[in-house]
Amino acid sequence: MGEEAGAGTGADAAAGSEGALVEAIAAGVAHEVRNPLNALQINLGILEQELSEIIPNHEGHVFEVIGKIAQELRSLDNFVTEFLRFARPPRPALEPVAVRPLLEDLVTFIGLECAGKGVSLSLVVAGGPEKVIVDGFQLKHAVLNLVLNALQATPEGGAIVIEVGSETAGLEIAVRDTGEGMSAEVLPRVFEAFFTTREGGTGLGLPIARRIVEAHGGTLAVRSREGAGTVATLHLPAAPGPR
Ligand SMILES: Nc1ncnc2c1ncn2[C@@H]1O[C@H](COP(=O)(O)OP(=O)(O)OP(=O)(O)O)[C@@H](O)[C@H]1O
Ligand SMILES: [Mg+2]
Repeated sequence: MGEEAGAGTGADAAAGSEGALVEAIAAGVAHEVRNPLNALQINLGILEQELSEIIPNHEGHVFEVIGKIAQELRSLDNFVTEFLRFARPPRPALEPVAVRPLLEDLVTFIGLECAGKGVSLSLVVAGGPEKVIVDGFQLKHAVLNLVLNALQATPEGGAIVIEVGSETAGLEIAVRDTGEGMSAEVLPRVFEAFFTTREGGTGLGLPIARRIVEAHGGTLAVRSREGAGTVATLHLPAAPGPR
């Protein structure tokens, strides 16, 4: 496997003195972008409703145009939501969470999409603690981002394995795939905010996952070999807690 992607990238900058700037930008985006965006979506819905009372059966070019606008607004909305999740991560709400059911839920949630692409997804619990003190929603979100990346990089016939390790103290979850892997140029950049090689990618999946894991006092690392696959490993200490 190649070199582990280094820390100290853009994703970490917000933790330092730039944190206040990122938060100020986030507040601006929330107020100046998300609010009007929501108003646009609501008003477009009203427009569509009123037009459909005049034009029967949604016939006509105008509904196509409305559909396109709605789609663009949705993707902008997704982007803003992801950005705010990155820039203003909520403090983890810690409680004891059973590890296996959480991951089984995740496999059920994303399993159909994997099957639809002809990629197998399995969960292997080799050991580790039965329960951990975490924000279950956030942990699931972090692992989901890793599995989505694995799925996006893995062609038909490939495999993704979510593995709970037994060798270290605390909780170790590795997401392995047999996908395309990453080049030596891409790998060191994957934790940079907005770095993406995917069309339609936001480049916030890994930075968000890392922020969540670090907010629990843990680490997230990615190793990869081009053409062979990738493994993302998340480690939470035995007694996780917010930093
Ligand atoms: N399992 C993987 N296999 C191959 N490349 C990967 C994998 N995981 C991440 N990458 C690379 O790292 C980049 C950044 O990943 P990240 O999840 O942060 O953003 P993204 O997937 O591009 O967009 P999104 O914000 O929708 O998650 C990807 O564009 C891809 O180049
Ligand atoms: Mg991603």
